[in-house]
Amino acid sequence: MRSLKGQRALITGAGKGIGKALALALAAEGVHIALLAGSEKEIEDVATKVRKLGVEAITVTADVTSKEDINIAAKTILYQFKTIDILINNAGIAKFGSFLALEPEEWEHIIKVNVMGIYYVTRAFLQDMINNKSGDIVNISSTAGLTGNVSTSAYTASKFAVLGLTESLMQEVRKYNIRVTALTPGNSETGSMELNLSNINEENEKQAEDFSELVIAQLKLNKRIVIKKSNIWSANS
Ligand SMILES: NC(=O)c1ccc[n+]([C@@H]2O[C@H](COP(=O)([O-])OP(=O)(O)OC[C@H]3O[C@@H](n4cnc5c(N)ncnc54)[C@H](OP(=O)(O)O)[C@@H]3O)[C@@H](O)[C@H]2O)c1
Repeated sequence: MRSLKGQRALITGAGKGIGKALALALAAEGVHIALLAGSEKEIEDVATKVRKLGVEAITVTADVTSKEDINIAAKTILYQFKTIDILINNAGIAKFGSFLALEPEEWEHIIKVNVMGIYYVTRAFLQDMINNKSGDIVNISSTAGLTGNVSTSAYTASKFAVLGLTESLMQEVRKYNIRVTALTPGNSETGSMELNLSNINEENEKQAEDFSELVIAQLKLNKRIVIKKSNIWSANS
């Protein structure tokens, strides 16, 4: 197993939920963390916890839908960290509703955050990874990226797109020793996605921390191994 100690990671959407769990779990492995989100307070709180684990943490507020924001954020992060070894494209939003109920602006916004966000952030760091001939990119899709469902058209379209982008980029940059993978979580107990958990045994339900453990296990695999997409099932599944 590879050690991750001393590597530098950028996690988008790191203020709460899966992104926060990933930040703390990677920090516990000795990884320095750049935390990015739209608002400052939550990532500052996570940064304090990360630093207590003995690694560096920097915070950057940026909207992943803004190419300009992301390019400025990338400059700040690369100035401080010199390089990013692990990029976790986690920032995402969900809004559900029938095809006609969601307003066009809402539909478009979901695609912008979940798809264009990954594109802008990856684009800002990819050349650096190519130059280094090294890197890991983990894109957070969803089980909604694997199959359609009633009232999830925008979210599902965005998460299918994440898998397509991931697989194409993976094939394109393998030759540079860059590994691009996707995680396809199902509902987890982050509370943020306003999931209906009322009819399940919450104790057995998978947690954000379980996804972090899976991501870390994959990052530790030999670089010749690429897991195209991964998921976990809880005892409730
Ligand atoms: N939770 C689940 O059950 C579940 C299931 C399947 C897939 N996923 C996927 O897993 C990822 C994380 O989900 P989560 O439930 O942990 O999310 P969450 O708790 O709602 O957190 C989302 C994070 O993304 C940030 N964010 C949202 N829009 C942003 C933007 N435009 N620019 C920059 N940052 C932005 C938020 O910060 P600000 O609000 O400060 O911007 C926050 O830190 C998402 O991609 C989601 O689709 C989650």
